[in-house]
Amino acid sequence: MHPNSNIQMSGKYTFTMIKPDAVRAGNIGNILAMINNAGFRIVAMKYTKLSKEQAGKFYEIHAARPFYGELVDFMSSGPIVAAILEKDNAVADFRTLIGATNPADAAEGTIRKLYAANVGENAVHGSDSDDNAAIEGNFFFSGLERF
Ligand code: RTP
Ligand code: MG
Repeated sequence: MHPNSNIQMSGKYTFTMIKPDAVRAGNIGNILAMINNAGFRIVAMKYTKLSKEQAGKFYEIHAARPFYGELVDFMSSGPIVAAILEKDNAVADFRTLIGATNPADAAEGTIRKLYAANVGENAVHGSDSDDNAAIEGNFFFSGLERF
């Protein structure tokens, strides 16, 4: 807790996945280079594949949304790269780097503008809060896998 608990400190960590579309397109290296160049440090990283059940649990928060089934099928359709990243103001700065959910709305030079095909298959995931960054990092990584 910050000594002045009225101050909401923004966290140093976020969680990301390079999604199956970007892996299939051969963009792991390009996306990791953008992440490094933006000043994020890799705390943990793995190349893995989610089962349907695991993808469903990861995106449980969207279970009631009309695109949930499609999202679970897509996220379990091939390997992904999962990583915990460190930087001051990590969650917000990473959301800026990746751009809007729909690449049509994403700013020039963002990862999604460059590498995402559409709103569903949008190249990367980025946590939307410090709490979710912690939950999502814990979903993939043990303490022994963090450096
Ligand atoms: P993410 O969680 O993957 O970083 O994406 P986000 O915050 O920008 O967007 P969110 O609203 O959390 O949606 C999660 C993912 O669901 C898929 N989606 N499809 N077909 C659609 O209208 C639709 N909307 C969202 C995307 O893969 C989105 O990233
Ligand atoms: Mg989200």
